[in-house]
Amino acid sequence: MFPLFQSHLDLAHQYWKRLIRSGDIVIDATCGNGQDTLVMAKLSLTENSGTLYALDIHPRAISLTRELLQSHLSPGLIERLHLCQQCHSTFPDEIKTGTVSLITYNLGYLPGGGDKSQTTLVKSTLQSLINALTLLKEGGLISMTCYPGHEEGQKEENEILAFTATLDPKQWNCCHHRWLNRKRAPSLLLIQKLYHR
Ligand SMILES: C[S@@+](CC[C@H](N)C(=O)[O-])C[C@H]1O[C@@H](n2cnc3c(N)ncnc32)[C@H](O)[C@@H]1O
Repeated sequence: MFPLFQSHLDLAHQYWKRLIRSGDIVIDATCGNGQDTLVMAKLSLTENSGTLYALDIHPRAISLTRELLQSHLSPGLIERLHLCQQCHSTFPDEIKTGTVSLITYNLGYLPGGGDKSQTTLVKSTLQSLINALTLLKEGGLISMTCYPGHEEGQKEENEILAFTATLDPKQWNCCHHRWLNRKRAPSLLLIQKLYHR
């Protein structure tokens, strides 16, 4: 199979496919155009199980995600989708601690939206990550794609990596994929909660 990994998103999707089972609770913390949300919906939702929360601060992202998912999924699956227009620094109260299998972030601004002012920012992304860690169940994963190609994105990546490096290795597996031969290319951060038996 060539190429094994085409892009940071490709690589992220491969991990999601290995981890997610139908019936899981999953969160897309930056739903944007809904492309990643759709991948997550197909992996986690059935007519009577699974819950998908899709968050975005931008109203256009919420309507684009709704339209995309409605055009690909049955009404029964759509009922299991919760679209939340809000900053991801907090998550909906109904999501219980220790229950979520996958929380994804694709940092930056809405592609094609022409509104670069609503890009993700270090402070809220870090707060979100801290809260996300409490929501994961054992074996659950945070998948974050970072964009160090612009100034805020570089700052965001630096601070997120510095924070992640402080996590207790007895509780978390933390891994950062980056392209060594592509300058300022996007990268993929993975944080998995370990099992305690
Ligand atoms: C690169 S896009 C996500 C692309 C998306 N995953 C897709 O498949 O189309 C980043 C998104 O993060 C959103 N965003 C920026 N700041 C945010 C915040 N504080 N909370 C939630 N979403 C935010 C932007 O509005 C934008 O839609």
